[in-house]
Amino acid sequence: MDERIVTGDELKEDSFESAIRPETLDEYVGQEELKENLKIFIEAAKKREEALDHVLLYGPPGLGKTTLAYIIANELGSNIRVASGPAIEKTGDLAAILSTIEPNDVLFIDEVHRIPKYVEETLYSAMEDYVLDIIVGNDSSSRSIRIDLPKFTLVGATTRAGDLTAPMRDRFGIVSKLNYYTIEELTKIVKRTAGVLNCEIDEDAAIEIAGRSRGTPRIANRLVKRVRDYAEVKGNGVITLPIARLALGKLKVDDKGLDETDYNLLKSIIDKFNGGPVGIEAIASSIGEEVTTIEDVYEPYLLQIGFLKRTSRGRVVTEKAYEHLGIPLFKH
Ligand SMILES: Nc1ncnc2c1ncn2[C@@H]1O[C@H](COP(=O)(O)OP(=O)(O)OP(=O)(O)O)[C@@H](O)[C@H]1O
Ligand SMILES: [Mg+2]
Repeated sequence: MDERIVTGDELKEDSFESAIRPETLDEYVGQEELKENLKIFIEAAKKREEALDHVLLYGPPGLGKTTLAYIIANELGSNIRVASGPAIEKTGDLAAILSTIEPNDVLFIDEVHRIPKYVEETLYSAMEDYVLDIIVGNDSSSRSIRIDLPKFTLVGATTRAGDLTAPMRDRFGIVSKLNYYTIEELTKIVKRTAGVLNCEIDEDAAIEIAGRSRGTPRIANRLVKRVRDYAEVKGNGVITLPIARLALGKLKVDDKGLDETDYNLLKSIIDKFNGGPVGIEAIASSIGEEVTTIEDVYEPYLLQIGFLKRTSRGRVVTEKAYEHLGIPLFKH
């Protein structure tokens, strides 16, 4: 499958992300409620010279979970250790990470829902009691030893909060869902990124790019980078509205941020199932995709903008979507 330019997932071309990542809560655009809360919790933890409560961040890819984890550590003035769920295969892997932790450090575990269940047990006592229970020795003479850990903050990130076990979820004091960004917020991000890339951008061009970014900063940044190439080759380096429109048209990203994949999905429900309701399995086999890919990647944004509706009898393409696609609605 071709790489989609409007996917929220990280692509190789996003390697410039670390350079444009905001470093403080004030630079972090949007997610206002979450930011307000975090500011208070962080300040209180610092006043008490204690570790911040464990934080769980969940939401679709590219909305700023990893960015926020780094910001939390930065605002706390703490070190950050980075790990990822699938890479923690054994209790020993977790023990190795935890044994390097210093007081009030942040341990960021990405894809926290993918930690194997038998490792989770060890993590529970580390999170709750700040102890590490490990088995040492061989079969005939093995025994369990307990090591005290300094107080630390676990920041867990996941795109699939539903896959987290209940005991795991319960151990996070702060649980926050990241929401899709508004066009105003994305406009700010687009302008900031253009600035970091040393590229001049007109206000109306920034709004145009924001409107096609599917509520997702990662996509907004990617589009800025691609449009900048057009501005340099086809214009005088400034991102103007005509340049932005030309570039986004060539990239086949429409004015709602939809691409061919979205069109295929919507049109196949319309053509083959009269617009629905239709079960997700039937959609999957009709477009030759996995159910989970549709659920995780294709449909969240279409649901968010109200082009697709989830009902008890299956997915339905809405009137709004028909209008956008320019297809007359013949339904009974
Ligand atoms: N609130 C924000 N303000 C400004 N830029 C942001 C914000 N959120 C995200 N970004 C930008 O978007 C990029 C992607 O964000 P990030 O890597 O944090 O997403 P993520 O939620 O961790 O994604 P994934 O689920 O794929 O791990 C970052 O490099 C950052 O530049
Ligand atoms: Mg991330």
